[in-house]
Amino acid sequence: MEVILSQLSDFFKSYSGPVLFVALSLILSAFAIHSKLLPRHVRPHNGGNVKQSTKSKFSIKDALPAVTIEPVDPNFDWEKEKPVPYRPFKNAPYRINMAIQKADPQNIIVIENTYLKSTKLRERIMNERAEISMACHPSAEAALKELYCTVTDFLMKKYPMYFYTKDNGTTFYNKIKNESFPLDPTMEDRLEVLKFLGRTIEEDFIILLKNGDEGELENEYVWRAGVSCYPSGFVPGEKFNKPLTAIHSPVPQYLERLKVSMNRFFERLRVHEFVVRYNWSIQAHTNIFAPSMNHGTRTVASVKPLSPEDLDFNKVFMRVEKQCFTRLPKTKADIMFIRTYTTPLTRIKAENRAEDFCGAIDGLSDDFAIYKNKILWGDAVKAFLKGESSGSTEKVYDFDIFEAQLNGELMKN
Ligand SMILES: *[C@@H]1O[C@H](CO)[C@@H](O)[C@H](O)[C@H]1NC(C)=O
Ligand SMILES: *[C@@H]1O[C@H](CO)[C@@H](O)[C@H](O)[C@H]1NC(C)=O
Ligand SMILES: *[C@@H]1O[C@H](CO)[C@@H](O)[C@H](O)[C@H]1NC(C)=O
Repeated sequence: MEVILSQLSDFFKSYSGPVLFVALSLILSAFAIHSKLLPRHVRPHNGGNVKQSTKSKFSIKDALPAVTIEPVDPNFDWEKEKPVPYRPFKNAPYRINMAIQKADPQNIIVIENTYLKSTKLRERIMNERAEISMACHPSAEAALKELYCTVTDFLMKKYPMYFYTKDNGTTFYNKIKNESFPLDPTMEDRLEVLKFLGRTIEEDFIILLKNGDEGELENEYVWRAGVSCYPSGFVPGEKFNKPLTAIHSPVPQYLERLKVSMNRFFERLRVHEFVVRYNWSIQAHTNIFAPSMNHGTRTVASVKPLSPEDLDFNKVFMRVEKQCFTRLPKTKADIMFIRTYTTPLTRIKAENRAEDFCGAIDGLSDDFAIYKNKILWGDAVKAFLKGESSGSTEKVYDFDIFEAQLNGELMKN
């Protein structure tokens, strides 16, 4: 941890424009690591001062021009749409400044053949784990409703065969799920809006609002609302009403630097601007809802490395997150969408990416090796990829992680 934090601080010393994006990804990872390691009592518990900053120091850069969302081909069939094969690893030392790129605004939300099972699973998670998977602070109600309108409008424009209005234009209709919800959410309860949005897209989403200029969370961007059904190694419910910079380092100046950089990123994000970053990890279990797994800690001595012979590599996954950021035009809320993909290692091997992936695993520096829990799966995965072991079965088959979790246990957090 110390190492990561000192790297971060060097980084911020030389802060300049594009570095911001990088800083964000660092901070997000550091945040995830750190909050896991912190004793509970040092984490802030209250929501801080919730007065929202609407005027004064709120100097948002000019909006970019609005984007026209194009419809997909009229023959588009969601059931035939294979998940985009994101493979964000390189046969090289892991660089923490993994590129944040301009995103294609047409692809912020995508409907693929996992849609129905995934959104049904999301419904189940929101029903059975409401307290950890979803929340909306009253101060975020307007932003949530704007997000709802933005997303439904996007879906109707991009996928007009599956999403359209009904009842004389008063209802938003989802043909794939045969579900309706009022087109205008103004009069709806915010938790209903949250739930509806959460089960209409596969993407998790987080609404960040800038806090007022007083109190503990002075001018910080705070996680005020969201649905997080596919967490990996953190409990979303513990993050609501906290800034993403709630990293309580033993060395206070780090916290100050992180805060500044992070808030600057969110401050500078422009309306109609879309940026994306990807990250990957390995999981040797079949939970996509994984609040308490996937990350390692410093206490590696207690981790017993997995043996490849015990693993069915159709059920060992590369887990990729596609994280998109944008700002809403009216409420000026910052939004983060997170789409999670799980790809079995049997497929990575079939794609002839075994060598590259082994290189990427070897390229993890100590901190990230710990963070990604490499000691647990590293040697087993490499043995499989190099053909030294075929695991517990030679068979290659499609394991449906959504269906398995839909019909099975939801892990306890
Ligand atoms: C990606 O990074 C976020 C923090 O930035 C972390 O919470 C998440 O677990 C990571 N996911 C994967 C698949 O590595
Ligand atoms: C449909 O909406 C239009 C305009 O909003 C209104 O004039 C018309 O009366 C409505 N029709 C029905 C059947 O409600
Ligand atoms: C769609 O849902 C409505 C109301 O919930 C129901 O009456 C109707 O039969 C359903 N249609 C299909 C095709 O399942």
